[in-house]
This record gives sequence, structure tokens and C-alpha cells, in this order.
Amino acid sequence: MTPEWAQRRAVVDEILQRYPERRSAIMPLLHLAQESRGYVAREDIEAIAEILAMTPAQVESVASFYALYVRRPRGRHTLTVCSNLACVLGGARSLVEHLRQRLGVEPGETTDDGLFTLQVTGECLAACDQAPVLQVDGYYVHRASPDKVDRLLEALRRGVPMAELADRAALPHEAEGGAQGGARPETPAGPGKGARADGWRL
Ligand code: FES
Repeated sequence: MTPEWAQRRAVVDEILQRYPERRSAIMPLLHLAQESRGYVAREDIEAIAEILAMTPAQVESVASFYALYVRRPRGRHTLTVCSNLACVLGGARSLVEHLRQRLGVEPGETTDDGLFTLQVTGECLAACDQAPVLQVDGYYVHRASPDKVDRLLEALRRGVPMAELADRAALPHEAEGGAQGGARPETPAGPGKGARADGWRL
């Protein structure tokens, strides 16, 4: 057991209490590892296996099955483009190309300054009517045009937190039409995978 996992023993015990079958806690424990470190490391796999009396291979098989678990260190901000059907039809491919050029990385890579990790997921992010959809640190960016993405990257480079960028006032010159006149949509877009429940829009 690593010192990190020894320190979070109380949290682990609380999670274990929720499940009559000990190994059912595998996904919450993987989430705990990811929230703490930013990704699930090999030592987390081994610690979780020890806690649940499983083999590391069994834990690894779950961690590698779900795309929501990150297995390598990533940048301060993670940008995830949905590449499922509605988003591809809405321009996701050109959005990925734009991000590749702007960031100088391929999907799965992190910029040299450690600021951005670019990801592309084939899993629908459950906001198809707002395609193409980009998620940044769990926040939705709906109808993610190249212009909008450029403003977003510039603001993040200035250190503006994503929570503030969710307020459209932080991104002036918004050219998008539609009924998105406020900081938050009246109706949240719904929780995509790994997204925060409020589903704010830029
Ligand atoms: S296809 Fe991209 S959000 Fe559904």
C-alpha cells in the first residue's frame, strides 16, 4: 500500500461500506485515484487490487475497458472532442484538425508546456443537438467553432478558470446565434460522460 492510499483510508472505507460485495467498489476507487492524481497510475491499480482482494490484472481490465479512465499524465486542461455521428456531421473532424494545428499535438498527446491534452472520443457526449461538442475539464463547449475554440484557448492560456469561461461574458465577440443569451442555459444540456451536471455553455 502506497502512502497516498494509506492517507485516503477513511475515504476508501466509506466507499467500501456502500457495497455489500467488496469488489463492486472498483469503479469508485478508480475514480478516487483519478481525482487525486489526475490519472490512474500502475501503483493505483495495484493498491486497488490489494484493497479489493483482486488481482492487478482484474483491476486493469476494468480500468482499460472504460474510456473515462485516463492512464497517463495529462495537461492542466483536457480538451475532448466528441467524434460520434452527430458531431462528425456537425464538423468534429475539422474541429480536431483545427485543435491539432493550434496546439501542435495529436489526439492523446499533451502540449510541451503541459497546458493542454487533446483527446478524441468515439463515445457520444449526450449533447448531440449542440454538435460539434467539445468538453474542457468536464465543461461542455457547445457548437464548438474554430473561432470559439481560439477564444477559449487564449483565455485558458491567460489562466482564466474554465468555471469563469462558462460565463459568456468572459468570451466577448460571441458570434453564435440561437437562444443562448445567458451565462447558463435554462435547461442544462444533461450530463455527458465525465461532465459536470450543470452542462454550462460558452
Ligand atoms: S454525437 Fe457528439 S454529443 Fe452525441
